[in-house]
Amino acid sequence: MKKAPKKGAKKQGKGHLAVVTDSLAFADEAYPEVLIDSLRAIIASLEEKDSYTHGHSVRVAGYAVLVARELQLGEVEVRAIELCALFHDIGKIGIPDKVLQKSSRLSRAEFEIMKSHPVRSARILEKVSALGNLLPGIRHHHERFDGLGYPDGLSGLEIPLAARIILIADTYDAMTSTRPYRLALDKEIAFEELRKCAATQFDPTLVEAFITAMRKQESGHQSGESALTKKIA
Ligand SMILES: [Fe+2]
Repeated sequence: MKKAPKKGAKKQGKGHLAVVTDSLAFADEAYPEVLIDSLRAIIASLEEKDSYTHGHSVRVAGYAVLVARELQLGEVEVRAIELCALFHDIGKIGIPDKVLQKSSRLSRAEFEIMKSHPVRSARILEKVSALGNLLPGIRHHHERFDGLGYPDGLSGLEIPLAARIILIADTYDAMTSTRPYRLALDKEIAFEELRKCAATQFDPTLVEAFITAMRKQESGHQSGESALTKKIA
């Protein structure tokens, strides 16, 4: 059963939050075991290919849950956003290793190949009919607020809420993780970077919700923990 957004969510206007997904029929612990097992198998296949992407997706899911709770969304929406975040990069399975694991700058042709991963992610997940409503959040997780993203150049509130949240969580995790080619940024610097790109790359309201939620988490007043992610990943 879908819960109505509560007070904090309402402040941003209905259109801002109404695009999540029209959602899974399951909430929290009610996921059938066979679905959990299937999702675990899909996640495990990505781990075989690229262990960084697996760890990254789990962290992004945690940040996405944090923001969804900050927006006071209902549990079904929180779960839907969490699943979108867990599976957003699953399409990287279809990206050749020499592109996916390249540590130097991608050529234009290589970047075009990399840009195909959100569509590939949605194509993989569409095979799981119970997850059909998650596909827009996954397909559009690289759309930018100013319309300059991909794959479809959606802008502003045309972009599904899950996708707008994932882009922020995804970028924050990339900035604060150490990679072979660069050191992790301090989180306060990462927050400033997100703010600099608010309204161009990111939904500005969600950037503030993200930073607020992260500060609340630090002081123990908000949590991105989830039993579902622990089961699946
Ligand atoms: Fe991605």
